[in-house]
Amino acid sequence: MRLTILGGGGFRVPLVYGALLGDHAEGRVSHVTLYDEDPARLGAMARVLADQAAASGVPDAPAVTATADLDEALRGADFVFSAIRVGGLEGRAADERVALAEGVLGQETVGAGGIAYGLRTVPVAREIARRVARTAPEAWVINFTNPAGLVTEAMAEELGDRVIGICDSPVGLGRRLARLLGARPEEAWIDYVGLNHLGWVRGLRIAGRDELPRLLADTAALESFEEGRLFGAEWLRSLGAIPNEYLHYYYFNRDTVRAYTQAEQTRGAFLRDQQRGFYAEAGRAEQPPGAALAAWDRTRAEREATYMAENREAAGTGERDASDLESGGYEKVALALMRAIARDERATLILNVRNRGVLSVLDARAVIEVPCLVDANGAHPVAVDPLPLHAVGLVTSVKAVEREVLAAAASGSRADAVKAFALHPLVDSVAVARRLVEGYAAAHPGLAHLR
Ligand code: G6P
Ligand code: MN
Repeated sequence: MRLTILGGGGFRVPLVYGALLGDHAEGRVSHVTLYDEDPARLGAMARVLADQAAASGVPDAPAVTATADLDEALRGADFVFSAIRVGGLEGRAADERVALAEGVLGQETVGAGGIAYGLRTVPVAREIARRVARTAPEAWVINFTNPAGLVTEAMAEELGDRVIGICDSPVGLGRRLARLLGARPEEAWIDYVGLNHLGWVRGLRIAGRDELPRLLADTAALESFEEGRLFGAEWLRSLGAIPNEYLHYYYFNRDTVRAYTQAEQTRGAFLRDQQRGFYAEAGRAEQPPGAALAAWDRTRAEREATYMAENREAAGTGERDASDLESGGYEKVALALMRAIARDERATLILNVRNRGVLSVLDARAVIEVPCLVDANGAHPVAVDPLPLHAVGLVTSVKAVEREVLAAAASGSRADAVKAFALHPLVDSVAVARRLVEGYAAAHPGLAHLR
């Protein structure tokens, strides 16, 4: 089995490779092709993976090759992971900065920042999807690229149900909740639905019993895990659900915008500087075995410990829990998804797929985030209860914005881009939307046509 990783020089690649090293079953991935536009990042990553393979002692570690030629990378692939970052972390920092300067949320995937990132990424994702359809028509595409729901929907225009989007945040939430209730994650049925980074846990069944009401009644238990602390027990009881952590940007918008504005650096700027150091260190020609992997481990620990730090500060929750820092979301979903498809091993996973009527308020093509049964035929969303009206409101208005982003990315029209920003629930004026388009057109060479 051949796996191609687009964005193969990316920081999370060792998580995936580490998971592959632990897979010894028949039909496992035997060959990984890393594709990246940046040879220096590819070189550094190849070193980290070589260190990982050596440290694992696995005799038949998946072979790794690297290329900067997209068609060469795609040819013969069984699975394609797409995990690219158009504009790099410098672009992410600009997405955040321009929005915050207008007093609205600047964040990787949510609000104005997410729209700017989407506008830049959709044309590239569409081109990749066309190339996959031509060069590797049998391949399954697993999309990690953010904003993951929107980008998966763009790629599905070309690839249909052969592209599946993934995110680790619902998995992390499910794992925290299961643990809290004394169950193993695989024993719990998580009733979760929405859009990517915009979903709610509405039930949690263990041995056939919904344990969520018991949890909602228990303040101490609620405030013992990340999302419980962020939102607070009282608000969770009012909602009767546990929202994805990204809903903190909606429910506490003014507070998070304030915390982000006052922060010394935006997340993107922090990561830009941090990662520059890592790639320089890991890419050095002369270094002892294991040094690149050690640099990666250190960098990862710091990155995870500071994730959503401003939100926790705004909510007054203190440090992250040790259990939130352990990995096992991102790479485990990816591997479980690949296994289920390749070996027809049935699995239930929360994924980003086309709606097909699951949420009746959205059309069939809309990509949603929902539990799916996965087998050799792909991911099949399961029927879920309808969303309550407040959630319908958010989901439909954010999906409407995503559709405007898809239209604006295709047309290149300034008016379409303004419409996308202006309709977002976290952008509070059409005048602000116009200035955002100006600001992003000036900040990003790829959006200069919007001036
Ligand atoms: C979570 C989200 C991803 C997002 C990442 C950002 O894992 O599910 O979609 O990319 O956080 O983390 P970062 O360390 O880049 O801020
Ligand atoms: Mn995500």
